[in-house]
Amino acid sequence: MRTTRPSETLQSTEIGGTKPTRRPRRLRRSDAIRSLVRETTVSVDDLIYPLFVVPDSRPSTEIRSMPGVWQHRVSDAVDASLRAHDAGIRAVLLFGLPEFKDAIGSASWDPSGPVQSAIEAIKRTIPDMTVIADVCLCEYTDHGHCGVIVDQDVDNDETLPLLSKQALSFANAGADFVAPSDMMDGRVAAIRATLDEGRLTEVGILAYSAKFASGFYGPFREAAESAPKFGDRRTYQMDPANIREAMLEISLDIEEGADIVMVKPALAYLDVIRAAREQFNVPIAAYNVSGEYAMVKAAAERGWIDGTRVMQEILTSIKRAGADLIITYFALEFAAAARR
Ligand code: PBG
Repeated sequence: MRTTRPSETLQSTEIGGTKPTRRPRRLRRSDAIRSLVRETTVSVDDLIYPLFVVPDSRPSTEIRSMPGVWQHRVSDAVDASLRAHDAGIRAVLLFGLPEFKDAIGSASWDPSGPVQSAIEAIKRTIPDMTVIADVCLCEYTDHGHCGVIVDQDVDNDETLPLLSKQALSFANAGADFVAPSDMMDGRVAAIRATLDEGRLTEVGILAYSAKFASGFYGPFREAAESAPKFGDRRTYQMDPANIREAMLEISLDIEEGADIVMVKPALAYLDVIRAAREQFNVPIAAYNVSGEYAMVKAAAERGWIDGTRVMQEILTSIKRAGADLIITYFALEFAAAARR
């Protein structure tokens, strides 16, 4: 059957019938051509895989709002790291759930705590895995805030020595980087000084520099059992409306000694990632956070979107915006899909 071209019926040589001379579609004709001219490629080398570690007194459990993400006991965290390593992922970011919580988060500097134990076990089993430890008090305090409470608010300067103590403990356990996510002023300088005094000059700081007070952290707080018991985090995390202030936060962290800076969340803040890339000459990390992951999973589960395709599109957009490193719960899935 011969198809009738619209031009035959519309006589388009007469009606608006000029022919284009530039034809960008030539470069889209085949998968091979498209891959030749592709401007942005996400590689497993760019990805950091987050893991939640619980004490061995608890079972490993899948997180309800984050299908495929688990609270791991130490031995399972090692297995997950091995799987990640086999898939080509060479960096993990650890979060810990302690045996007990108190007002100052003292379980966080217990040398036999879940994060410290996981750092040691992962480094012993996979020496070339880069292990990054998240530094914050919210998982460890009974009130769920990221610092100590004085007069109903988080006290900045009282919190700094506690964060430093926690960072030192993770570094002593063998962490390659510590990643402060608390948003206290001056914490990068305090942690750097503590590490240097402890002769841990090789341990790096990946700073959550522009961390916004975001609704996208919802599922994480279930995973890390770290929701604040009163109020919210708006007196320390940033107002989502502010990009100039984000640049200020990043510049302060670089001055204080951050090796890598981060923008978080990623997807609703691609402009912040781009601005950071243009203004600063240190590696820029972006955190593709729990809510961004959960939304894709939920819609894919209902058959409303193609989850794998959307994941790849999201990670590509974060990289295209200017991120050098991406922290993502999709890391393993991305690596598996890339091999296919
Ligand atoms: C701890 C911390 C949070 C995240 C990383 N570190 C939560 C928060 O600030 O409440 C969020 C990560 C995610 O949503 O995936 N302060």
